[in-house]
Amino acid sequence: MINKANTVSDFMNKEHEYLDQLWAKFFDKNSLEIDETFFADFKKRELEHIRFEDEFLFPALNEYLGIAQDEGLASLARRDHGGIVKLLEMMERAMQIGELDALEMSARNLDNILQAHRKREQEIHYPVSDNFVSQDEWENIIEKFNLVK
Ligand SMILES: [Fe+2]
Ligand SMILES: [Fe+2]
Repeated sequence: MINKANTVSDFMNKEHEYLDQLWAKFFDKNSLEIDETFFADFKKRELEHIRFEDEFLFPALNEYLGIAQDEGLASLARRDHGGIVKLLEMMERAMQIGELDALEMSARNLDNILQAHRKREQEIHYPVSDNFVSQDEWENIIEKFNLVK
């Protein structure tokens, strides 16, 4: 849960670790466990994480950097997030109609996309945020998010 502020990197990297743990309950490269509860848990938290980044953290970062919201790191993340959301929806649909091959293909795709996306955020987005978003503003962002989620 989002409630305690360290640096952006400390905090967000822990979020990624937690999301990876939830994902690993559902997805194993060798055997896909079809458990709708695990999927629902993961989807809920992943969407929350994406919302935090797209509506709170990265817009603030772009503001600090003096970059328009449809450019730079915020827009790069938003584009990836769109792909992640689409794959989550495809997986949900495949699960509902029992299309296990389609489910597995989407899950493998999502696994790859998530790894690349998180790596980039951890190497670029979060360290840049550490440098440009002040500690006060960061705490402010977390507080605002806690109020609306
Ligand atoms: Fe992200
Ligand atoms: Fe992230």
